[in-house]
Amino acid sequence: MCGIVGYVGPRQAQGIVVEGLRRMEYRGYDSAGVALVVSGPEGHDGGTTVATAKKAGKLANLEKLIADEPMPAATTGIGHTRWATHGAPNDRNAHPHRGDTGRVAVVHNGIIENFVELRDELERQGHVLLSETDSEIVAHLLEVEVLGGADLTTAMQRVCCRLEGAFTLVAVDGGDPDRVVAARRNSPLVVGIGEGESFLGSDVAAFIEHTREALELGQDQVVTLTRDGVDVTTFAGEPAQGRRFSVDWDLSAAEKDGHDWFMRKEIFEQPRAVADALLGRRSPAGQLQLDEMRLDDDELREIDKIIVIACGTSFYAGMVAKYAIEHWTRTPVEVELASEFRYRDPILTHDTLVVAISQSGETADTLQAIRHARTQGSKVLAICNTNGSTIPRESDAVIYTHAGPEIGVASTKGFLTQLVACYLLALYIAQVKGTRYGDEIDQIMRQLEEIPAHIDTVLAGAEEIYTLAREHVGARSVLFLGRHAGFPVALEGALKLKELAYLHAEGFAAGELKHGPIALIEEGLPVLCVVPPRGRDQLHEKMLSGIQEVRARGARTICLAEAGDDKIAPYADVLIRLPRVPVLLQPLVAVVPLQLFACELATALGHDVDQPRNLAKSVTVE
Ligand code: F6R
Repeated sequence: MCGIVGYVGPRQAQGIVVEGLRRMEYRGYDSAGVALVVSGPEGHDGGTTVATAKKAGKLANLEKLIADEPMPAATTGIGHTRWATHGAPNDRNAHPHRGDTGRVAVVHNGIIENFVELRDELERQGHVLLSETDSEIVAHLLEVEVLGGADLTTAMQRVCCRLEGAFTLVAVDGGDPDRVVAARRNSPLVVGIGEGESFLGSDVAAFIEHTREALELGQDQVVTLTRDGVDVTTFAGEPAQGRRFSVDWDLSAAEKDGHDWFMRKEIFEQPRAVADALLGRRSPAGQLQLDEMRLDDDELREIDKIIVIACGTSFYAGMVAKYAIEHWTRTPVEVELASEFRYRDPILTHDTLVVAISQSGETADTLQAIRHARTQGSKVLAICNTNGSTIPRESDAVIYTHAGPEIGVASTKGFLTQLVACYLLALYIAQVKGTRYGDEIDQIMRQLEEIPAHIDTVLAGAEEIYTLAREHVGARSVLFLGRHAGFPVALEGALKLKELAYLHAEGFAAGELKHGPIALIEEGLPVLCVVPPRGRDQLHEKMLSGIQEVRARGARTICLAEAGDDKIAPYADVLIRLPRVPVLLQPLVAVVPLQLFACELATALGHDVDQPRNLAKSVTVE
């Protein structure tokens, strides 16, 4: 939610900041703005001042504004792309915000919970606040400090001590041209370290074009960027240190590579992403090893209950994890929406393992849930894609998913690699607890290693899915049915369609349909059915009955069934073939046609697939 960028160095800041904003736009696209420290007639001590430009709507609107009314040259600048929380998405509420004299400009990501008290206080003192945002108060508070003689770093430290809530703040002072100061609490911020120049971004994609050396900031820290380097302190002004790391992907990973959408590119990257998620997970002797995980085997053996917490698509990965972990390890698993978790007073002990799944590693609901779990004495293991993000840092253990940057707002490769991490975790616990024989684990690992080739097969049939999607441009509603591990796939298929095509879509457990939802079926209603592989637990037979029931009532059945499944043909109006894989692994192949379907239908409807309305990639507010 909201993308933030900052630069100080010898080069022209405007281009670097705007380019960084382009890479951050997936985080919010309600408005965009920049502030540059420029030389000017109204200059402060050093003859410099702050110039801002901001515009409602997507970044393109800001770019047009800057093209029409060029900004002066500057080598220090900050930028913001907004996902609105407080105040409508208009020009006035766009960031950066400035204080009364215009000397200090600030951008903000997060929510300042005590902003009403602080705004009242400022207004009582005669300050004039122009926007409806919670962020503008920070510009005024910083400016009061700076006009009182504090440097921007000290001002930021003092102001942060007064703020409650979640915030990343980045500020510049017109009287101090070569300094950018930032702070973070419960909201993401990463520093890029270049040669004689420094960068800031909500994530590393903001500056990956310029440097792959990064510094992850801790909670409640302030960072000062100058040409000479970076300096980190606590809010109290004590020296502090961030964690240095090198980014292991390059610019091409953050580009569209000839695809119309990042989402489509990321769908097609899935064979590679799954292969990367599996890489290096076995020792030379064939034992499963999870190097990044910081829990030791004794601790894992003691675990008597697992609670998986996550939101949205990651929650559906958690639902699949439950099937896999319980089946392979016989350890009871609960799956809970992170936003609900702490409010139900969950039963947590030292022997409960909480698994938090988050692609971004910044989702506020998930972060608050893991904090709650840790205060109750439970261990937390994060399954995360983003190195340097908050959730893994605040967890006891982590499995990184290694999907590479996911930029399309709708999660695709993030989801598949989360599934892989969940299977790996399940198999690892099985290995440690001895609930599965080594050769069985080995066999499942080999089946997992075949999945990239199976996804390639599904992707080879993309044109067929696209044609199908385009046939549904006039649909008003689409249902998705699944059973067992296919149920979360049905939910995910429906979510993709809702968020991208803005179409009513519902996913159901096929067996549940007859308990009410079957009343929704009417002539011609498209129903996508994820058919389980044949053979186990009568799942397949039961699914066939469900399909017959909806078809008898006029539904148009679009069935995803494994190659060689002859029984399904008579009941399928459309048949999409899936590679043959075991039922627990089927989500890895079955979800791919549903992603392609949603992407293409949204494209045909003329929607912006990478930036669907009302959404943002990382949801850093509760
Ligand atoms: C849907 C989607 C969201 C996220 C959810 C959690 O396509 O992307 O539902 O899955 O907001 O995000 P993370 O995994 O970053 O915690």
